[in-house]
Amino acid sequence: MTQRAERAAPGRIDPDLYESLDAAMLHYPAPKARLSPRQVRAVWAGLASDIRAGRKQELLSVYLHVPFCAHRCKYCMYYSEEPGGPESIELFLRGLLDEMAFMAPALEGIRATHLYVGGGTPSALSPEQLDRLLSGVFSLFEFGPAGERGLECHPLNMTPRHLAVIKKHGLNRVSFGVQTLNRRTLNSVNRDCQTWRDIVALQGRLGRAGIPMVNVDLLLGLTRDTPRAFLETADRVMKLGPGSISVHRLVPQPAYLRDFYRGEEARCIDDINRFARAVLPGLKRLADRRGFLFPDYDPAHYENRVYTLITPGYLEEYGKQPTGGYTIDNVQAYSVLGLGPSAKSNIFGCGLCQSDGALGAGFSPDEKKLLFTRHDLKYEMLWHLVFSLDKHNNMVPGAYMRAAFAEDYLEVFKKPLRALAKAGAVTIKDGDLYFNRWTKKERFLIVMYLIRSAAGRGLPELSGLSG
Ligand SMILES: C[S@@+](CC[C@H](N)C(=O)[O-])C[C@H]1O[C@@H](n2cnc3c(N)ncnc32)[C@H](O)[C@@H]1O
Ligand code: SF4
Repeated sequence: MTQRAERAAPGRIDPDLYESLDAAMLHYPAPKARLSPRQVRAVWAGLASDIRAGRKQELLSVYLHVPFCAHRCKYCMYYSEEPGGPESIELFLRGLLDEMAFMAPALEGIRATHLYVGGGTPSALSPEQLDRLLSGVFSLFEFGPAGERGLECHPLNMTPRHLAVIKKHGLNRVSFGVQTLNRRTLNSVNRDCQTWRDIVALQGRLGRAGIPMVNVDLLLGLTRDTPRAFLETADRVMKLGPGSISVHRLVPQPAYLRDFYRGEEARCIDDINRFARAVLPGLKRLADRRGFLFPDYDPAHYENRVYTLITPGYLEEYGKQPTGGYTIDNVQAYSVLGLGPSAKSNIFGCGLCQSDGALGAGFSPDEKKLLFTRHDLKYEMLWHLVFSLDKHNNMVPGAYMRAAFAEDYLEVFKKPLRALAKAGAVTIKDGDLYFNRWTKKERFLIVMYLIRSAAGRGLPELSGLSG
């Protein structure tokens, strides 16, 4: 998952500093404050009354973060801890149920679409605890009849009893990590507990249980992995038969850099780039051979954060789900209510919110534990443009922008887009927007130009756009 930019705006533009267009969003003015759950609930209540009055679309997803893993992997970018014992999980669960009960009244009458129980590792809960969590969320929040109901798990601790619980609650998507099957890598990153036997057994149980959407995560660019071993992993996983495979590009974390790169980030990024370049054409050939579609594949680009390999069957099932998503990084997730330590929320057109990434001593409605970044609909539109640019490489699909927003983005950004078109940097055709400039620096500058416009700042000369 990508991370939305949340640091304070640096004073000047230096495109060479940035790896990703997300970073450009740092330059959009977005005031920050520490809020208590009670204050955040009031913001949600405001959104809910806008929805009831028809001023905003009723699109909401719920994300629950379970911050436990039996063994922490050294590369991981998500907040979790190795549980101190059954009582630490129990304390967390009671806190999460209290948090849900506290927030739910603000959203009364609003129907959520998607549910995602992620982590960490939700299967680190016992089956009884998972049952209480799912009973809680389905009784406290209203959900529409269709939508993804997903759970992340680890092959090590996802038992038949867990599976019975998720069947009972009608979950329709399960995702688990494999990352790589390279033993040297797994030993180095503290994931040596993973066995091929457990993976095969889990996939078999999920298939027999008829879970319609099963995803496996792979992680591209890990230490001591080789393109050959990674492609062997991909081939074995494809033959196993999940509906989709998410190939995540490693986002190196500080502890990982310290352990494996003496803190040298640039060297690590170079390695990941080399790895991606070496692996992607082979992955495409494998996908073709094994019946997986690979819609993101573009031989000229190897910098996507996630590549999805998907079977036609999974795609069909996915197509039955209503629009939306369950993480704030999914551009179609109009509002996401994220609960649990470190979970992020997007209160559409109002702000982003992230809770403390720490297991506290239960839930307290008046403690200032949430970092709130205020924004508005223009910011939301801008973020969609940036995401679109990153994801589709050079194109913003007009149809989906029109579906997401009541206002026309071409009108809202008319002035800067006209100037950019005149400079040859963009083309607008049939409501779609194409970026004609390809280098990282050019793309970054185009986005900065749009941001300056959205933020009401003066628009500079466009001479910097070439090269
Ligand atoms: C919450 S975890 C998956 C569930 C389960 N805990 C497991 O590991 O099997 C979600 C996925 O995020 C990916 N991930 C974790 N750390 C990452 C990082 N630093 N960079 C990119 N992807 C990462 C991994 O592929 C992982 O499977
Ligand atoms: S990859 Fe999964 S098991 Fe490993 S630390 Fe991250 S969440 Fe936990």
